[in-house]
Amino acid sequence: MNSKLPTTGTTIFAVMSNLAHEHKAINLSQGFPSFNPDQALLDLVTHYLNNNGNQYAPMVGVPKLRQSIADKVSMLYGRSVDPDTEVTVCDGATEGLFSAIQATVHPGDEVIIFDPAFDSYEPAVTLAGGRTVHIPLIETEANPDYHIDWERLESAINERTRLIILNFPHNPSGVILESEDLDRLAEMVRNTNVYLISDEVYEHIVFDGAEHQSFIRHDELWERSFVISSFGKTYHATGWKVGYCVAPPALTNEFRKIHQWVCYAVVSPIQYAIGDYMASTPEHYKALPIFYEEKRDRFCDLIKNSRFIFRPSKGTFFQILDYSEITDEDDTSYAKRLTREIGVASIPVSVFCEKVPSSRELRFCFAKDDDMLEKAAERLCRL
Ligand SMILES: Cc1ncc(COP(=O)(O)O)c(C=O)c1O
Repeated sequence: MNSKLPTTGTTIFAVMSNLAHEHKAINLSQGFPSFNPDQALLDLVTHYLNNNGNQYAPMVGVPKLRQSIADKVSMLYGRSVDPDTEVTVCDGATEGLFSAIQATVHPGDEVIIFDPAFDSYEPAVTLAGGRTVHIPLIETEANPDYHIDWERLESAINERTRLIILNFPHNPSGVILESEDLDRLAEMVRNTNVYLISDEVYEHIVFDGAEHQSFIRHDELWERSFVISSFGKTYHATGWKVGYCVAPPALTNEFRKIHQWVCYAVVSPIQYAIGDYMASTPEHYKALPIFYEEKRDRFCDLIKNSRFIFRPSKGTFFQILDYSEITDEDDTSYAKRLTREIGVASIPVSVFCEKVPSSRELRFCFAKDDDMLEKAAERLCRL
């Protein structure tokens, strides 16, 4: 068969998780919590499973959930969005990203993404007939965290550029945006026909008192943005695959035309349950930064005497560790070797990049119970 995605193989997440399983390794590779959602949320799902919550949901999402999303957005980001015309529940953030890309990208269009980049962006662009332009995030002496190379971005934008996809808090590095970054981006796309996708699945996982800079906050960016989030990350339920897209009415209209034919509607009982839970228990997402900050601090403290070099993550539930003091081996072989030999699985950062970077970095997920983190750290400290 003439493949539409000839270069797509098995994702590294499946490869590393399978390897972890085979070697009974501690799996800090794939980004999922080792703990369950709140029992109250599970009880709500059970309630709706047993009380007529099992038929097709409306194509755009159940009204209560869309209202709860709109209320949250208004409370956190200060914008009143209309749940009927600006909020759509989707089949995980992955479907939201896919539908937003199909809605905007035409054959021949260029789409800018920043490496290291989440792996679902490029195939979706390819299927839409677009071309992905990769711009590496840079680390400089003045700013050692990964950040946007604004000059490079400015020179990459041209009349073929249709879309820029950004993801902050950033997987895998955990870096976040400052409000000045949003202003700078707004300057760059002003007077262009460029749309934006802001992948904000880690919107509630930002540390050290920082504030998440949602594109929903920013008047100019908002006008051209699809903002995508995921309940999987927020409610410790990655397997539910429920997320949402918030975008102005004209963009939402086009988004829904695609969403309708990708999945039509999203799993009903879980939508009813999250809709109730969000409204009754906003303290869950409000407490999430502290919850994960404690996990980050725990993990960083446990490995502080190892030979890995790191700066504590600023957001997400990932910590990057630089292993250049330990070996010069490439990151994919090293990640596999660590899984086999010391029983700790991670993700090599190069898989998120078009060009293999010279840095030697692995991504570790710390959304795990303390005993798992302790065991993993003890093994990492032996290296
Ligand atoms: C940056 C980023 N975007 C999107 C997703 C996909 O989210 P979902 O599981 O809701 O489809 C993930 C999941 O790991 C992610 O890290």
